[in-house]
Amino acid sequence: MTKTTTAALYPNAKVAAEVGTYSEQNSTSLPKNLIEYHDFIVESRSDSDYMVSSLQAQSLAFFARAFGAKRILEIGSYVGFSALVWAHAVGQDGKVTGLEFSEEYAKIANEAFEKHGVKNVEIIVGDALQTLSTLKPEEPYDLIFIDAQKSGYPDYLRDILAGSRPGSTTRLLRPGGIIIADNVLRRALVADGSEENPNWGLQRHVKTAEDDLTALRKFNAALANDERLEALLLPVFDGVGFARLLD
Ligand SMILES: C[S@@+](CC[C@H](N)C(=O)[O-])C[C@H]1O[C@@H](n2cnc3c(N)ncnc32)[C@H](O)[C@@H]1O
Repeated sequence: MTKTTTAALYPNAKVAAEVGTYSEQNSTSLPKNLIEYHDFIVESRSDSDYMVSSLQAQSLAFFARAFGAKRILEIGSYVGFSALVWAHAVGQDGKVTGLEFSEEYAKIANEAFEKHGVKNVEIIVGDALQTLSTLKPEEPYDLIFIDAQKSGYPDYLRDILAGSRPGSTTRLLRPGGIIIADNVLRRALVADGSEENPNWGLQRHVKTAEDDLTALRKFNAALANDERLEALLLPVFDGVGFARLLD
């Protein structure tokens, strides 16, 4: 039988959950303190679904190491879980910068960094639509993770590309550097926004959700079509977009 690009969906939620748990258990584990922090946030906060899942965190750490990333910029840090994962992946001689809108989230994140003895993460509080373009890193980042408000994704990409021109002494992303963007399929609604998609009901009354889908389609197309990028959209988790900066 010919293989197709149809995403492998599991027959029901129970099987899908078993596959997720099995995959998590058969991937290199995160350090115990990070697993505990993830569990603590899930148990203590109603907005904990902002965080990447444990398996996605394992995959981020794997990719960062496989890419040899030592300097990582994260747009959207929430209470610092994914930043802790990046800090773990880059090691003590690496550096992580997070951009986070909420002072409250940034404070919780900074407390967590202190509690876990992590000294190589800095959170810049403010609207990343403004702070991103003001960054002038001494050395460019190896990897930029986009995980803030979905309507901002096209602007973040524009600012990353504009801030990473060949020859610039303060470029954001190095040549060959990687962009990873989370939630680019948004419960499959980005690819299939029709009423036949069972997830359609989740967003039909929310204007911002429709704006998010439009922005994500624009972002995905820009990632795929910009001649400075090589792109890959993987239908895993909530859709993860990858791009490699060629120049
Ligand atoms: C999905 S959460 C990030 C989760 C985090 N990466 C993790 O996995 O642990 C998105 C975060 O982006 C932040 N955010 C939203 N809009 C932003 C903006 N314009 N500038 C900076 N941060 C923003 C939100 O406050 C929220 O904390």
